[in-house]
Amino acid sequence: MAFLYVLITREYPNGIRFYFYIMNLIVRIFVVFVNIYHVENYGKIRRVHELNNAHEKIVNRYFVQRIDWTTSNLGKILYKNVPENAWEREKKTFIIHIYKYWRDFKNRHLIDHVTNRYDPLKDCPVQNCEFTKNENYFYTADVVIFYLFRGRLPRNRRTNLKQRWIFLSDESPVNTFAGAKAKPSFSRLANIFNWSMTYRSDSDVPIPYGRTVALPKPIFPKPKRMSYENIASLVPYWNQKRRDVLVTILMSHCRTHRINYVRYLRRLINIDFYGKCSYTFRYRTRCPGHFNTDCDVTANYLFYLVLENTSCRQYMTEKLFYNAYLKGAIPIIRNPSLEDCQKLLPPNSFLHADQFNSPVEMVNMIKAMGADDELLLSFHAWRNHFNVTNEHGFFNSKSSQMCRLCQALNYNDKSVRWYDEDDIRLYLDPKLLCTAIPDFDFGPVNKRGR
Ligand SMILES: *[C@@H]1O[C@H](CO)[C@@H](O)[C@H](O)[C@H]1NC(C)=O
Ligand SMILES: *[C@@H]1O[C@H](CO)[C@@H](O)[C@H](O)[C@H]1NC(C)=O
Ligand SMILES: *[C@@H]1O[C@H](CO)[C@@H](O)[C@H](O)[C@H]1NC(C)=O
Repeated sequence: MAFLYVLITREYPNGIRFYFYIMNLIVRIFVVFVNIYHVENYGKIRRVHELNNAHEKIVNRYFVQRIDWTTSNLGKILYKNVPENAWEREKKTFIIHIYKYWRDFKNRHLIDHVTNRYDPLKDCPVQNCEFTKNENYFYTADVVIFYLFRGRLPRNRRTNLKQRWIFLSDESPVNTFAGAKAKPSFSRLANIFNWSMTYRSDSDVPIPYGRTVALPKPIFPKPKRMSYENIASLVPYWNQKRRDVLVTILMSHCRTHRINYVRYLRRLINIDFYGKCSYTFRYRTRCPGHFNTDCDVTANYLFYLVLENTSCRQYMTEKLFYNAYLKGAIPIIRNPSLEDCQKLLPPNSFLHADQFNSPVEMVNMIKAMGADDELLLSFHAWRNHFNVTNEHGFFNSKSSQMCRLCQALNYNDKSVRWYDEDDIRLYLDPKLLCTAIPDFDFGPVNKRGR
Protein backbone atom coordinates (compact mmCIF):
# COMPACT_ATOMS: atom_id res chain seq x y z
CA MET A 1 0.00 0.00 0.00
CA ALA A 2 2.74 2.42 0.94
CA PHE A 3 4.31 1.67 -2.40
CA LEU A 4 1.15 2.80 -4.22
CA TYR A 5 1.02 6.00 -2.18
CA VAL A 6 4.54 6.80 -3.15
CA LEU A 7 3.66 6.28 -6.79
CA ILE A 8 0.58 8.49 -6.53
CA THR A 9 2.15 11.37 -4.66
CA ARG A 10 5.00 11.70 -7.21
CA GLU A 11 4.60 13.97 -10.20
CA TYR A 12 2.77 12.18 -12.97
CA PRO A 13 0.60 13.36 -15.81
CA ASN A 14 -3.02 13.63 -14.67
CA GLY A 15 -4.25 10.59 -16.62
CA ILE A 16 -1.70 8.23 -15.09
CA ARG A 17 -2.24 9.71 -11.65
CA PHE A 18 -5.94 9.05 -11.95
CA TYR A 19 -5.18 5.55 -13.13
CA PHE A 20 -3.05 4.85 -10.03
CA TYR A 21 -5.69 6.39 -7.83
CA ILE A 22 -8.33 3.99 -9.15
CA MET A 23 -5.97 1.00 -8.79
CA ASN A 24 -5.27 2.03 -5.21
CA LEU A 25 -8.97 2.21 -4.49
CA ILE A 26 -9.60 -1.24 -5.99
CA VAL A 27 -6.77 -2.78 -3.99
CA ARG A 28 -8.04 -1.17 -0.76
CA ILE A 29 -11.55 -2.36 -1.35
CA PHE A 30 -10.19 -5.83 -2.06
CA VAL A 31 -8.19 -5.82 1.18
CA VAL A 32 -11.19 -4.70 3.18
CA PHE A 33 -13.24 -7.52 1.66
CA VAL A 34 -10.60 -10.13 2.36
CA ASN A 35 -10.52 -8.95 5.95
CA ILE A 36 -14.27 -9.00 6.33
CA TYR A 37 -14.33 -12.48 4.82
CA HIS A 38 -11.65 -13.65 7.22
CA VAL A 39 -13.32 -12.24 10.27
CA GLU A 40 -16.65 -13.70 9.16
CA ASN A 41 -15.12 -17.08 8.52
CA TYR A 42 -13.17 -17.07 11.73
CA GLY A 43 -16.40 -16.30 13.51
CA LYS A 44 -18.10 -19.14 11.69
CA ILE A 45 -15.38 -21.60 12.51
CA ARG A 46 -15.55 -20.58 16.13
CA ARG A 47 -19.31 -20.93 16.19
CA VAL A 48 -19.25 -24.38 14.58
CA HIS A 49 -16.63 -25.39 17.11
CA GLU A 50 -18.78 -24.13 19.96
CA LEU A 51 -21.78 -25.95 18.63
CA ASN A 52 -19.84 -29.16 18.26
CA ASN A 53 -19.03 -28.60 21.90
CA ALA A 54 -22.75 -28.25 22.46
CA HIS A 55 -23.18 -31.67 20.85
CA GLU A 56 -20.48 -33.09 23.07
CA LYS A 57 -22.13 -31.52 26.11
CA ILE A 58 -25.50 -33.00 25.21
CA VAL A 59 -23.96 -36.42 24.65
CA ASN A 60 -21.88 -36.27 27.84
CA ARG A 61 -24.83 -35.14 29.92
CA TYR A 62 -26.65 -38.23 28.68
CA PHE A 63 -23.92 -40.78 29.36
CA VAL A 64 -22.94 -39.33 32.72
CA GLN A 65 -26.24 -40.68 34.12
CA ARG A 66 -24.77 -44.16 33.70
CA ILE A 67 -21.46 -43.42 35.33
CA ASP A 68 -22.13 -45.68 38.32
CA TRP A 69 -23.39 -48.61 36.22
CA THR A 70 -21.46 -51.84 36.59
CA THR A 71 -20.91 -53.33 33.17
CA SER A 72 -18.65 -55.79 31.42
CA ASN A 73 -16.13 -54.40 28.95
CA LEU A 74 -18.63 -55.00 26.16
CA GLY A 75 -21.19 -53.18 28.31
CA LYS A 76 -18.85 -50.18 28.37
CA ILE A 77 -18.80 -50.15 24.57
CA LEU A 78 -22.57 -50.53 24.27
CA TYR A 79 -23.68 -48.29 27.14
CA LYS A 80 -20.85 -45.97 28.11
CA ASN A 81 -19.79 -44.73 24.71
CA VAL A 82 -16.30 -46.23 25.09
CA PRO A 83 -14.72 -46.86 21.67
CA GLU A 84 -14.48 -50.45 20.49
CA ASN A 85 -10.70 -50.27 20.04
CA ALA A 86 -10.17 -49.74 23.78
CA TRP A 87 -9.47 -53.48 24.09
CA GLU A 88 -7.24 -55.85 22.13
CA ARG A 89 -8.87 -58.63 20.17
CA GLU A 90 -8.09 -62.28 20.72
CA LYS A 91 -6.08 -64.10 18.06
CA LYS A 92 -7.97 -67.38 18.37
CA THR A 93 -11.26 -68.50 16.83
CA PHE A 94 -13.98 -69.28 19.39
CA ILE A 95 -16.20 -72.34 18.91
CA ILE A 96 -19.69 -71.78 20.30
CA HIS A 97 -22.07 -74.68 20.82
CA ILE A 98 -25.74 -73.78 20.81
CA TYR A 99 -27.27 -76.34 23.18
CA LYS A 100 -30.51 -77.91 21.88
CA TYR A 101 -31.80 -74.63 20.61
CA TRP A 102 -30.92 -74.64 16.95
CA ARG A 103 -34.44 -74.40 15.56
CA ASP A 104 -35.43 -71.24 17.43
CA PHE A 105 -31.95 -69.90 17.05
CA LYS A 106 -31.88 -70.42 13.31
CA ASN A 107 -35.17 -68.65 12.71
CA ARG A 108 -34.12 -65.54 14.44
CA HIS A 109 -30.36 -65.34 14.14
CA LEU A 110 -29.45 -67.23 10.98
CA ILE A 111 -32.54 -66.82 8.83
CA ASP A 112 -34.43 -63.58 8.53
CA HIS A 113 -37.69 -65.21 9.69
CA VAL A 114 -38.52 -66.00 6.09
CA THR A 115 -36.00 -68.00 4.11
CA ASN A 116 -33.00 -65.83 3.48
CA ARG A 117 -29.98 -67.10 5.27
CA TYR A 118 -27.60 -64.54 6.62
CA ASP A 119 -24.28 -64.50 8.34
CA PRO A 120 -24.82 -63.93 12.10
CA LEU A 121 -21.61 -61.88 12.10
CA LYS A 122 -22.52 -59.74 9.12
CA ASP A 123 -21.34 -56.15 9.76
CA CYS A 124 -19.89 -57.31 13.09
CA PRO A 125 -16.59 -55.67 14.10
CA VAL A 126 -15.19 -59.10 15.08
CA GLN A 127 -15.36 -62.28 13.00
CA ASN A 128 -13.43 -64.91 14.97
CA CYS A 129 -16.41 -66.99 16.15
CA GLU A 130 -18.07 -70.13 14.80
CA PHE A 131 -21.47 -71.43 15.85
CA THR A 132 -22.44 -75.08 15.86
CA LYS A 133 -25.41 -77.24 16.84
CA ASN A 134 -23.24 -80.37 16.67
CA GLU A 135 -23.45 -82.01 20.10
CA ASN A 136 -19.99 -83.50 19.70
CA TYR A 137 -18.78 -80.04 20.65
CA PHE A 138 -20.53 -80.17 24.01
CA TYR A 139 -17.24 -81.01 25.76
CA THR A 140 -14.75 -79.22 23.54
CA ALA A 141 -16.37 -75.93 22.48
CA ASP A 142 -15.06 -72.74 24.11
CA VAL A 143 -18.59 -71.70 24.95
CA VAL A 144 -21.92 -73.46 25.41
CA ILE A 145 -25.09 -71.37 25.15
CA PHE A 146 -28.20 -72.42 27.07
CA TYR A 147 -31.41 -70.79 25.94
CA LEU A 148 -33.57 -70.71 29.05
CA PHE A 149 -36.88 -70.18 27.26
CA ARG A 150 -37.20 -73.90 26.48
CA GLY A 151 -35.69 -74.82 29.84
CA ARG A 152 -33.34 -77.44 28.41
CA LEU A 153 -30.49 -77.78 30.85
CA PRO A 154 -27.58 -80.22 30.71
CA ARG A 155 -27.79 -83.38 32.74
CA ASN A 156 -24.11 -84.08 32.27
CA ARG A 157 -21.64 -82.58 34.65
CA ARG A 158 -19.10 -80.26 33.23
CA THR A 159 -15.77 -81.91 32.49
CA ASN A 160 -14.02 -79.06 30.76
CA LEU A 161 -13.47 -76.29 33.31
CA LYS A 162 -12.03 -73.92 30.74
CA GLN A 163 -15.35 -73.92 28.99
CA ARG A 164 -17.65 -70.99 29.59
CA TRP A 165 -21.33 -71.80 30.06
CA ILE A 166 -23.65 -68.91 29.31
CA PHE A 167 -27.36 -68.56 30.02
CA LEU A 168 -29.32 -66.72 27.39
CA SER A 169 -32.68 -65.10 28.06
CA ASP A 170 -34.41 -62.35 26.14
CA GLU A 171 -37.73 -62.62 27.94
CA SER A 172 -38.59 -60.77 31.12
CA PRO A 173 -38.06 -62.75 34.37
CA VAL A 174 -41.81 -63.47 34.42
CA ASN A 175 -41.57 -65.29 31.08
CA THR A 176 -38.00 -66.65 31.16
CA PHE A 177 -39.18 -70.27 30.97
CA ALA A 178 -42.46 -69.62 29.15
CA GLY A 179 -41.58 -72.18 26.47
CA ALA A 180 -40.44 -74.88 28.91
CA LYS A 181 -42.30 -77.92 30.20
CA ALA A 182 -41.33 -77.12 33.77
CA LYS A 183 -39.72 -74.17 35.44
CA PRO A 184 -36.40 -75.13 37.07
CA SER A 185 -35.73 -73.88 40.60
CA PHE A 186 -33.08 -71.27 41.23
CA SER A 187 -31.00 -73.82 43.12
CA ARG A 188 -31.00 -76.00 40.00
CA LEU A 189 -29.57 -73.03 38.10
CA ALA A 190 -26.96 -72.15 40.72
CA ASN A 191 -23.22 -72.62 40.20
CA ILE A 192 -23.31 -73.80 36.61
CA PHE A 193 -23.22 -70.65 34.50
CA ASN A 194 -20.16 -68.49 34.04
CA TRP A 195 -21.75 -65.62 32.15
CA SER A 196 -25.14 -64.00 31.61
CA MET A 197 -26.55 -63.00 28.25
CA THR A 198 -29.73 -60.92 28.57
CA TYR A 199 -31.17 -57.57 27.49
CA ARG A 200 -29.90 -55.99 30.72
CA SER A 201 -27.02 -53.54 30.56
CA ASP A 202 -25.25 -55.31 33.43
CA SER A 203 -25.13 -58.70 31.68
CA ASP A 204 -21.74 -60.08 30.68
CA VAL A 205 -23.10 -60.16 27.15
CA PRO A 206 -25.78 -57.48 26.86
CA ILE A 207 -28.25 -58.22 24.05
CA PRO A 208 -30.72 -55.36 24.27
CA TYR A 209 -33.61 -55.16 21.82
CA GLY A 210 -32.39 -51.69 20.97
CA ARG A 211 -30.07 -48.98 22.21
CA THR A 212 -29.51 -45.26 22.20
CA VAL A 213 -26.22 -44.44 20.49
CA ALA A 214 -24.55 -41.05 20.21
CA LEU A 215 -23.84 -39.77 16.72
CA PRO A 216 -20.18 -38.83 16.24
CA LYS A 217 -21.33 -35.42 14.95
CA PRO A 218 -24.70 -33.69 14.98
CA ILE A 219 -26.59 -34.02 11.68
CA PHE A 220 -27.35 -30.29 11.64
CA PRO A 221 -24.29 -28.61 13.09
CA LYS A 222 -26.21 -25.65 14.50
CA PRO A 223 -28.73 -27.09 16.91
CA LYS A 224 -29.56 -23.69 18.40
CA ARG A 225 -30.52 -22.28 15.03
CA MET A 226 -32.28 -25.42 13.82
CA SER A 227 -35.66 -24.77 12.30
CA TYR A 228 -38.60 -27.01 12.93
CA GLU A 229 -38.40 -28.09 9.30
CA ASN A 230 -34.89 -29.34 10.08
CA ILE A 231 -36.12 -31.44 12.98
CA ALA A 232 -39.10 -32.70 10.96
CA SER A 233 -36.68 -33.88 8.27
CA LEU A 234 -35.10 -36.20 10.86
CA VAL A 235 -38.39 -37.88 11.77
CA PRO A 236 -39.06 -41.05 9.75
CA TYR A 237 -42.39 -40.99 7.87
CA TRP A 238 -43.11 -37.43 9.00
CA ASN A 239 -45.10 -36.60 5.85
CA GLN A 240 -47.53 -39.47 6.28
CA LYS A 241 -48.46 -38.79 9.90
CA ARG A 242 -52.20 -38.58 10.50
CA ARG A 243 -53.70 -35.69 12.43
CA ASP A 244 -57.19 -37.09 12.97
CA VAL A 245 -56.14 -40.02 15.15
CA LEU A 246 -52.93 -39.39 17.08
CA VAL A 247 -52.26 -42.67 18.89
CA THR A 248 -51.97 -46.28 17.83
CA ILE A 249 -51.15 -49.63 19.36
CA LEU A 250 -50.54 -53.09 17.96
CA MET A 251 -51.33 -56.01 20.23
CA SER A 252 -51.34 -59.74 19.68
CA HIS A 253 -51.03 -61.09 23.24
CA CYS A 254 -54.34 -60.04 24.74
CA ARG A 255 -53.45 -59.62 28.41
CA THR A 256 -56.31 -58.07 30.38
CA HIS A 257 -54.22 -55.40 32.10
CA ARG A 258 -53.20 -54.11 28.69
CA ILE A 259 -56.63 -54.33 27.10
CA ASN A 260 -58.17 -52.52 30.07
CA TYR A 261 -55.63 -49.73 29.88
CA VAL A 262 -56.36 -49.20 26.19
CA ARG A 263 -60.07 -49.30 26.94
CA TYR A 264 -59.60 -46.68 29.61
CA LEU A 265 -57.53 -44.37 27.44
CA ARG A 266 -59.99 -44.73 24.58
CA ARG A 267 -62.57 -42.98 26.71
CA LEU A 268 -60.30 -39.94 26.66
CA ILE A 269 -58.73 -40.00 23.18
CA ASN A 270 -59.06 -41.86 19.88
CA ILE A 271 -56.68 -44.80 19.57
CA ASP A 272 -56.42 -46.98 16.49
CA PHE A 273 -55.93 -50.46 17.82
CA TYR A 274 -54.38 -53.02 15.45
CA GLY A 275 -53.54 -56.72 15.73
CA LYS A 276 -55.20 -59.84 17.07
CA CYS A 277 -56.58 -58.14 20.19
CA SER A 278 -58.25 -55.27 18.36
CA TYR A 279 -61.96 -54.68 18.87
CA THR A 280 -62.67 -54.23 15.20
CA PHE A 281 -62.25 -57.11 12.81
CA ARG A 282 -60.80 -54.85 10.12
CA TYR A 283 -58.04 -53.75 12.49
CA ARG A 284 -57.61 -57.21 13.96
CA THR A 285 -56.56 -58.63 10.63
CA ARG A 286 -54.73 -55.59 9.30
CA CYS A 287 -51.43 -56.49 10.97
CA PRO A 288 -51.55 -60.13 11.96
CA GLY A 289 -47.78 -60.60 11.66
CA HIS A 290 -46.06 -61.98 14.71
CA PHE A 291 -42.44 -60.87 14.63
CA ASN A 292 -41.96 -61.87 11.00
CA THR A 293 -43.90 -59.29 9.04
CA ASP A 294 -43.56 -55.60 9.36
CA CYS A 295 -46.74 -53.72 10.21
CA ASP A 296 -46.34 -50.51 8.25
CA VAL A 297 -49.43 -48.85 9.68
CA THR A 298 -47.75 -47.60 12.86
CA ALA A 299 -45.74 -45.22 10.70
CA ASN A 300 -48.90 -43.15 10.14
CA TYR A 301 -49.26 -42.06 13.75
CA LEU A 302 -47.54 -39.43 15.88
CA PHE A 303 -47.71 -41.58 19.03
CA TYR A 304 -47.35 -45.27 19.76
CA LEU A 305 -48.67 -46.73 23.01
CA VAL A 306 -46.03 -49.09 24.42
CA LEU A 307 -47.49 -51.62 26.83
CA GLU A 308 -44.86 -54.21 27.63
CA ASN A 309 -46.58 -57.32 28.95
CA THR A 310 -44.60 -57.25 32.20
CA SER A 311 -43.01 -54.46 34.20
CA CYS A 312 -39.45 -55.55 34.95
CA ARG A 313 -36.13 -53.80 35.31
CA GLN A 314 -34.85 -52.56 31.94
CA TYR A 315 -37.29 -54.77 30.05
CA MET A 316 -37.97 -52.88 26.83
CA THR A 317 -38.65 -54.62 23.57
CA GLU A 318 -39.16 -54.11 19.88
CA LYS A 319 -42.46 -52.40 20.73
CA LEU A 320 -40.45 -49.41 21.80
CA PHE A 321 -37.45 -49.52 19.50
CA TYR A 322 -39.16 -50.74 16.35
CA ASN A 323 -42.87 -49.88 16.49
CA ALA A 324 -42.30 -46.47 18.04
CA TYR A 325 -38.86 -44.91 17.40
CA LEU A 326 -38.08 -46.52 14.05
CA LYS A 327 -41.53 -45.50 12.77
CA GLY A 328 -41.07 -41.90 13.85
CA ALA A 329 -43.67 -42.17 16.62
CA ILE A 330 -43.24 -40.80 20.12
CA PRO A 331 -43.65 -43.67 22.59
CA ILE A 332 -46.21 -43.40 25.38
CA ILE A 333 -44.81 -45.72 28.04
CA ARG A 334 -46.33 -47.34 31.09
CA ASN A 335 -43.44 -49.56 32.13
CA PRO A 336 -40.59 -50.17 32.90
CA SER A 337 -39.88 -47.42 35.43
CA LEU A 338 -39.43 -43.78 34.48
CA GLU A 339 -35.84 -43.99 35.71
CA ASP A 340 -35.01 -46.90 33.40
CA CYS A 341 -36.52 -44.97 30.50
CA GLN A 342 -34.58 -41.80 31.31
CA LYS A 343 -31.31 -43.70 31.41
CA LEU A 344 -31.85 -45.95 28.40
CA LEU A 345 -33.91 -43.91 25.94
CA PRO A 346 -32.94 -40.72 24.13
CA PRO A 347 -33.38 -37.52 26.16
CA ASN A 348 -36.82 -35.93 25.93
CA SER A 349 -38.08 -38.54 23.50
CA PHE A 350 -41.08 -40.14 25.22
CA LEU A 351 -44.07 -39.66 27.52
CA HIS A 352 -44.18 -41.87 30.61
CA ALA A 353 -47.36 -42.44 32.61
CA ASP A 354 -45.50 -41.68 35.87
CA GLN A 355 -44.72 -38.15 34.69
CA PHE A 356 -48.42 -37.31 35.05
CA ASN A 357 -50.78 -37.26 37.98
CA SER A 358 -53.46 -39.04 36.01
CA PRO A 359 -54.17 -40.53 32.59
CA VAL A 360 -56.38 -37.49 31.94
CA GLU A 361 -53.39 -35.19 32.41
CA MET A 362 -51.28 -37.37 30.13
CA VAL A 363 -53.94 -37.37 27.43
CA ASN A 364 -54.19 -33.58 27.67
CA MET A 365 -50.46 -33.42 26.96
CA ILE A 366 -50.84 -35.76 23.97
CA LYS A 367 -53.63 -33.57 22.60
CA ALA A 368 -51.61 -30.41 23.16
CA MET A 369 -48.66 -31.92 21.32
CA GLY A 370 -50.89 -33.10 18.49
CA ALA A 371 -52.06 -29.53 18.00
CA ASP A 372 -48.66 -27.84 18.22
CA ASP A 373 -45.90 -28.97 15.86
CA GLU A 374 -43.23 -26.99 17.68
CA LEU A 375 -44.01 -28.70 20.97
CA LEU A 376 -44.28 -32.06 19.24
CA LEU A 377 -41.02 -31.72 17.35
CA SER A 378 -39.15 -30.78 20.51
CA PHE A 379 -39.62 -34.47 21.36
CA HIS A 380 -37.69 -35.36 18.21
CA ALA A 381 -34.82 -32.88 18.63
CA TRP A 382 -32.67 -35.70 20.08
CA ARG A 383 -32.50 -37.15 16.58
CA ASN A 384 -29.88 -34.54 15.77
CA HIS A 385 -27.51 -36.07 18.34
CA PHE A 386 -28.51 -39.69 18.86
CA ASN A 387 -29.67 -42.72 16.97
CA VAL A 388 -31.80 -45.58 18.19
CA THR A 389 -30.82 -49.05 16.98
CA ASN A 390 -32.89 -52.20 16.56
CA GLU A 391 -30.88 -55.32 17.37
CA HIS A 392 -33.49 -58.03 18.01
CA GLY A 393 -33.94 -59.74 14.66
CA PHE A 394 -37.71 -59.32 14.54
CA PHE A 395 -39.59 -57.97 11.49
CA ASN A 396 -36.61 -58.74 9.26
CA SER A 397 -34.38 -56.37 11.20
CA LYS A 398 -30.92 -57.71 11.88
CA SER A 399 -30.16 -59.61 15.07
CA SER A 400 -26.95 -58.54 16.81
CA GLN A 401 -26.96 -61.27 19.46
CA MET A 402 -24.21 -63.46 18.04
CA CYS A 403 -22.08 -60.45 17.24
CA ARG A 404 -22.42 -59.30 20.85
CA LEU A 405 -21.35 -62.73 22.08
CA CYS A 406 -18.31 -62.70 19.81
CA GLN A 407 -17.40 -59.17 20.93
CA ALA A 408 -17.72 -60.20 24.58
CA LEU A 409 -15.43 -63.19 24.03
CA ASN A 410 -12.84 -60.87 22.55
CA TYR A 411 -13.03 -57.98 25.01
CA ASN A 412 -14.43 -59.13 28.37
CA ASP A 413 -12.38 -59.92 31.42
CA LYS A 414 -11.46 -63.61 31.28
CA SER A 415 -11.15 -64.42 34.97
CA VAL A 416 -12.76 -67.57 36.32
CA ARG A 417 -16.21 -66.93 37.78
CA TRP A 418 -19.73 -68.29 37.97
CA TYR A 419 -23.24 -67.34 39.11
CA ASP A 420 -24.34 -68.67 42.48
CA GLU A 421 -28.01 -68.74 43.43
CA ASP A 422 -28.13 -65.10 44.59
CA ASP A 423 -26.43 -63.93 41.41
CA ILE A 424 -28.90 -65.86 39.27
CA ARG A 425 -31.82 -64.32 41.15
CA LEU A 426 -30.55 -60.85 40.34
CA TYR A 427 -31.24 -61.64 36.69
CA LEU A 428 -34.15 -64.05 36.78
CA ASP A 429 -36.23 -63.60 39.94
CA PRO A 430 -39.43 -61.67 39.19
CA LYS A 431 -39.83 -60.94 42.91
CA LEU A 432 -36.66 -58.86 42.84
CA LEU A 433 -37.01 -57.38 39.38
CA CYS A 434 -40.63 -56.91 38.48
CA THR A 435 -43.59 -54.97 39.78
CA ALA A 436 -47.26 -55.66 39.25
CA ILE A 437 -48.93 -53.55 36.59
CA PRO A 438 -52.00 -51.89 38.10
CA ASP A 439 -55.16 -52.91 36.35
CA PHE A 440 -57.89 -50.48 35.42
CA ASP A 441 -61.06 -52.23 36.36
CA PHE A 442 -64.20 -50.29 35.62
CA GLY A 443 -66.90 -52.82 35.72
CA PRO A 444 -69.15 -53.44 32.76
CA VAL A 445 -67.69 -53.10 29.33
CA ASN A 446 -68.89 -49.99 27.53
CA LYS A 447 -69.87 -50.08 23.91
CA ARG A 448 -66.46 -49.05 22.65
CA GLY A 449 -64.79 -51.86 24.58
CA ARG A 450 -65.16 -55.58 24.12
C1 LIG B 1 -44.85 -61.21 26.47
O1 LIG B 1 -44.14 -60.60 25.39
C2 LIG B 1 -43.09 -61.38 24.91
C3 LIG B 1 -42.33 -60.57 23.91
O2 LIG B 1 -43.08 -59.56 23.34
C4 LIG B 1 -43.63 -62.68 24.34
O3 LIG B 1 -42.58 -63.47 23.84
C5 LIG B 1 -44.34 -63.42 25.44
O4 LIG B 1 -44.90 -64.59 24.93
C6 LIG B 1 -45.43 -62.55 26.02
N1 LIG B 1 -46.01 -63.23 27.12
C7 LIG B 1 -47.26 -63.11 27.48
C8 LIG B 1 -47.70 -63.97 28.60
O5 LIG B 1 -48.05 -62.35 26.93
C1 LIG C 1 -29.04 -44.97 12.68
O1 LIG C 1 -29.12 -46.38 12.84
C2 LIG C 1 -29.59 -47.08 11.72
C3 LIG C 1 -29.62 -48.54 12.06
O2 LIG C 1 -30.33 -48.76 13.22
C4 LIG C 1 -28.69 -46.83 10.53
O3 LIG C 1 -29.23 -47.45 9.39
C5 LIG C 1 -28.58 -45.35 10.28
O4 LIG C 1 -27.65 -45.12 9.27
C6 LIG C 1 -28.11 -44.64 11.54
N1 LIG C 1 -28.09 -43.22 11.30
C7 LIG C 1 -27.04 -42.47 11.58
C8 LIG C 1 -27.21 -41.02 11.27
O5 LIG C 1 -26.05 -42.91 12.09
C1 LIG D 1 -17.17 -71.83 35.05
O1 LIG D 1 -17.92 -72.21 36.18
C2 LIG D 1 -17.53 -73.42 36.78
C3 LIG D 1 -18.47 -73.67 37.94
O2 LIG D 1 -19.74 -73.88 37.48
C4 LIG D 1 -16.11 -73.35 37.22
O3 LIG D 1 -15.70 -74.61 37.78
C5 LIG D 1 -15.23 -72.99 36.05
O4 LIG D 1 -13.90 -72.83 36.49
C6 LIG D 1 -15.70 -71.71 35.41
N1 LIG D 1 -14.94 -71.44 34.22
C7 LIG D 1 -14.60 -70.23 33.85
C8 LIG D 1 -13.81 -70.12 32.58
O5 LIG D 1 -14.89 -69.23 34.46
